[in-house]
Amino acid sequence: MKVEALKCRICGKEFPPEALYTCDNCFGPLEVKYNWDWIHDHASTEKIEKGPNSLWRYRDFLPVNGEPVDLGAGFTRFIRATNLGEELGLKNLFLIDDSVNPTYSFKDRVVSVAVTKAKEFGMKAVGCASTGNLAGSLSAHAAKANLPAYIFMPKGVEKGKIIQALVHGAKVIEVDGTYDDANRVATEVAEEHPDWGFVNINLRPYYAEGSKTLAYEAAERLGWNLPDQVVVPMASGALLCAIYRGFRDLERVGFVEERDVVFNGSQPYGLPISKAIKYGGGIEPVRKMDTLVHSLAIGNPADGMFAKDIIERTGGFAEDPTDRDTIEAVKLLAKTEGIFTELAGGVTVAGLKRLVEDGRIDKSDVVVVYLTGNGLKTGEPVLDYLDDTIKIKPRLEEFEEVVA
Ligand SMILES: Cc1ncc(COP(=O)(O)O)c(C=O)c1O
Ligand SMILES: [Zn+2]
Repeated sequence: MKVEALKCRICGKEFPPEALYTCDNCFGPLEVKYNWDWIHDHASTEKIEKGPNSLWRYRDFLPVNGEPVDLGAGFTRFIRATNLGEELGLKNLFLIDDSVNPTYSFKDRVVSVAVTKAKEFGMKAVGCASTGNLAGSLSAHAAKANLPAYIFMPKGVEKGKIIQALVHGAKVIEVDGTYDDANRVATEVAEEHPDWGFVNINLRPYYAEGSKTLAYEAAERLGWNLPDQVVVPMASGALLCAIYRGFRDLERVGFVEERDVVFNGSQPYGLPISKAIKYGGGIEPVRKMDTLVHSLAIGNPADGMFAKDIIERTGGFAEDPTDRDTIEAVKLLAKTEGIFTELAGGVTVAGLKRLVEDGRIDKSDVVVVYLTGNGLKTGEPVLDYLDDTIKIKPRLEEFEEVVA
């Protein structure tokens, strides 16, 4: 079988591939351990290229056996960003645009894998703790899978994201506190109901694997080559770690030549992962999060120390743009490439800009930047920084007057 075991990311202890997520030896998080002989025998680049235009073209690398719960996530637009590249002074800038996934964020990749796994385990319901995007994605996939969904969100999540979760019929529980409070309650509920699959709690080892497809896609679209550098938004740090594993997988099976890809992260100002990398010290949880970028506002990041390790080991860096820089970056991307990304994408592009300005990315580097959510989800704060509409009476002369 493709999945051999679950393995502790700290002490290496192995467990059967069930709905487990913490090591009973050291409390470390678990990850999927694959049978690489199986993958070698089954996977090929030709097979992938003939596969569906979704993340399921990479199913030989994903930890599931059953029929996918599939809304068509993945294999999104891969864009050579010549205008933005010119603006920033980069000759080989590429964007993966996950703002156009079925529920308009990259979370569809992780959720499609996790809900497929919940079905495989015969679970009776699904759930999650969410900063907003996971909520919409889980509630849509749960609807498709005919499973009830319980979603725990902190206060202050954008209205559109709450509507998106509710419209598919999920039970949305708004917790009076931060994301970390919502996550704590959700973890207690998951412990109480072992036959419910909380995608980013007891299914987390499987869930995280869905994001590896963002690495596979970059490599495939570059003609089975790895980029020189990537720039990734961070909340818990799971996405960055998954992209790292994805590149290593492809090297392991010989689909790409080995390359030391430099990993860069970006997180709103004041949050723990970027703070530790940029200013030194360990990952210190923060309680009060003062940012408009709710989707990245995790004060106690589960994968923080692993993300920090990858960034430092690969010679990358982490940036921490302010909200103002983030909004300017949303506008810059929209005006240069015609892509309206959510504030998390603004954090990523603002991070990219600083990395280039500080000479950390070279002009000729092949850079892949991950845009993970859609601008219509977080439009309101941006509105304050746009020109007013031009108001006229319905008469030609008025128009001519205002444009004169
Ligand atoms: C739009 C968007 N981008 C990136 C992330 C980062 O995810 P991670 O927690 O894996 O670092 C999130 C997390 O919620 C998100 O909503
Ligand atoms: Zn352990």
